[in-house]
Amino acid sequence: MTNKRILGSMKTKLVIIGITGDLSTRKLLPALEQIIATGDFDDLSIIGVSRREFDIDTLLASSVGNTELARRISPFSMDLSQEVDYRRLKDFIDLGDDEQLLVYLSVPPVVTPHIVEFLGQAGLNGPNVKLLLEKPFGVDLESARRMIDHVAKYYSEAQIYRIDHYLAKEMTQNIIAFRAGNALFDHVWNASAIEKIEVVALEKIGIENRAQFYEQTGALRDVLQGHLIQLLALILMEIPRDFDWDDMATLRLKALNQLQSADPGRAVRAQYSGYQDEVGNPGSLTETFASIELTSVNPTWRGVPLVLATGKNMDRKTTEVRVYFRKNHEAQTNRLIFKIQPFEGVEIELYTKKPGYDREFERQRLSFEYPEEIKLPDAYEQVMVDAIRSKKSLFATGHEVLRAWEVLQPVQQSWDMDSADLTTYSPGADLYTLL
Ligand code: BG6
Repeated sequence: MTNKRILGSMKTKLVIIGITGDLSTRKLLPALEQIIATGDFDDLSIIGVSRREFDIDTLLASSVGNTELARRISPFSMDLSQEVDYRRLKDFIDLGDDEQLLVYLSVPPVVTPHIVEFLGQAGLNGPNVKLLLEKPFGVDLESARRMIDHVAKYYSEAQIYRIDHYLAKEMTQNIIAFRAGNALFDHVWNASAIEKIEVVALEKIGIENRAQFYEQTGALRDVLQGHLIQLLALILMEIPRDFDWDDMATLRLKALNQLQSADPGRAVRAQYSGYQDEVGNPGSLTETFASIELTSVNPTWRGVPLVLATGKNMDRKTTEVRVYFRKNHEAQTNRLIFKIQPFEGVEIELYTKKPGYDREFERQRLSFEYPEEIKLPDAYEQVMVDAIRSKKSLFATGHEVLRAWEVLQPVQQSWDMDSADLTTYSPGADLYTLL
């Protein structure tokens, strides 16, 4: 039996560092509630780390309120800047030889390097330990490289699970299933048939209460660098006949390696009006909307514009991949849409004859949507389950992270140096008014 199989079936102790934080209460705890409810994870126990002491029932009341989950959580308070506290944590965890430990860092990215170092120094990095890291992975190519090298001093790549929750969304995985399983589209998945691809993630919400984080991040780094580039890779990557999900990261990386560097002249950067008051920084240059247009050197995709766009405070919440087929004439429709959220499905636009005596066409939608009563697993459920089972296909490798930064670097550097092209949009804007 491989080491991988053994870890996947071991008793699991999950340490969440930052259990009282926003990500944990909004995403992780509800996800844990769901996976525990399946009955397949009876060996899972949770150690909730926070700076201050907390009451589990109060913590869960704001998110899930599940007594079984409450029973599984043991609280542990510590000072994350004190080395000695990590040794206390290690004693508290008391990892047995037949157990695996997952350490989930649900903390602001600035503190990640120190925590990793302390964990390593305390010996919380043995072969049965996995480290789950949240994005952003660095703020540019150099810092990402430093961060990756730093973490590599304490954990091997096999132990590191870099979370990009977009990769774990149900419909994102369906892009691969759809492409692999349907010959009709397989035949036309190339530049001769496809005219353009758009990957968009628009949100109606603004930055909510994350002013400090967002001021340092912006739309390019927050969503485009990871989430959208990864979605694009799934559209462009080769799906071999003997496709194995374990090869996903390698295939995604190959697609990323074929992208040309982003051209600042084909990028759009904008900020919604009112943002500066919201963050209390009148001169803020942080973009809340970002879009770039990429191209691939792979002959399969040569010349096809690959447009990525994301924004806050837009007219709708929607994450979609839109594939435009080449038309033979203007009176044709040509769109295939992967609807990632909020309504998960696939849609094809078709022209059909409008019923009646006149010979007119009308646009129809051939669509498949999961019925509302089917509860699709949340991305964070999938992340936890795959990390427990040592399945790494939906996690970003260090190479992918670096490559994504490399592709974006010209735009990111030009935006860091020069603010002249920052435009303003009204909250509720439509995507196509900004492109
Ligand atoms: C996060 C970003 O990674 O993704 C947030 O930091 C964004 O700014 C969120 O709102 C969107 O995720 P989802 O799953 O709601 O589309």
